[in-house]
Amino acid sequence: MPAFTASAPGKIILFGEHAVVYGQPAIAVPVHDVQARAIVQPRPGGEGIRLIASDISMKQALADLPLDDAIALAVRLTQEAIGVKELPACTLVVSSTIPLAAGLGSGAAVSVAIIRALAGFLGHPLPDETVNQLAFEVEKIHHGTPSGIDNTVVTFGRPVYFVKDQPIEILEIPISFTLVIGDTGVSSPTVETVTYVREAFQAQPDLYQSYFDLCGKLAWNARQQLNRRRNTSLGPLMNDNHDVLVRMGVSSPELDTLVAAAREAGALGAKLSGGGRGGNMVALVEPDRAEEIALALTDAGAANTIITTVGRP
Ligand code: PMV
Repeated sequence: MPAFTASAPGKIILFGEHAVVYGQPAIAVPVHDVQARAIVQPRPGGEGIRLIASDISMKQALADLPLDDAIALAVRLTQEAIGVKELPACTLVVSSTIPLAAGLGSGAAVSVAIIRALAGFLGHPLPDETVNQLAFEVEKIHHGTPSGIDNTVVTFGRPVYFVKDQPIEILEIPISFTLVIGDTGVSSPTVETVTYVREAFQAQPDLYQSYFDLCGKLAWNARQQLNRRRNTSLGPLMNDNHDVLVRMGVSSPELDTLVAAAREAGALGAKLSGGGRGGNMVALVEPDRAEEIALALTDAGAANTIITTVGRP
């Protein structure tokens, strides 16, 4: 059995985070500049699976992980999907350049890479639909009640217009556009902001429903603009989406600072992305201004920036 390697990209949400959990549409795009990678290698003479994940200082037998560990679950679900009772002795090496707990889909990307690598190693590559379903099950550990947007965009590696429990709609991008992503450096587990929004929605259903509806309309409108090749029109829509997220209570001073810095430096629009209260923000920029805006974000305190092109040929 030869070694098998698989990878999966990061992702960024352009419109509709949080509202997507409540059935509104959202738009997310892959970020190929950062990747999670899994390699499964045979371990002749060994026993069971040995896991090496240097990024999180993990080096141990998979059997010693708790049953609800995300990596252990990804392995178990893959094994069940393929119908293999016992796995051959092997080493699973997991690495990732996607920042953790930052709204860039690191959890989903690691799951997708592991599922693909293990299935490939066992000689049973799984179709993307199955990989997506399995990764969704693992996402429940990260998010509690995930919408499924992260695993979907990461599995298919294409921009998506996503509505929970609806067939996947790949979003064609007729003209590419450039994003600058700025990391606040503040770690913010998505499960915490998703729980906060759920409690706020229960306390003030009409108000929060109006926020969700607004976000959904912005995502819908953004899709229309993309279809009509009016990419720059996304900028003001992103600004509006950020304002709604601020009112929802999921922004933070660090996110607001970076969003303001991007706009002041000439971004066409900027917003927080993902769960919020930390993690990343994203700005739509003219390609020739990208470096300058990334620098402005660093000056304003960004721990890291990524420049990425969506819809490149
Ligand atoms: O993983 P994050 O932080 O990009 O958040 C995912 C988006 C949410 O809408 C906040 C949660 C979800 O499951 O859709």
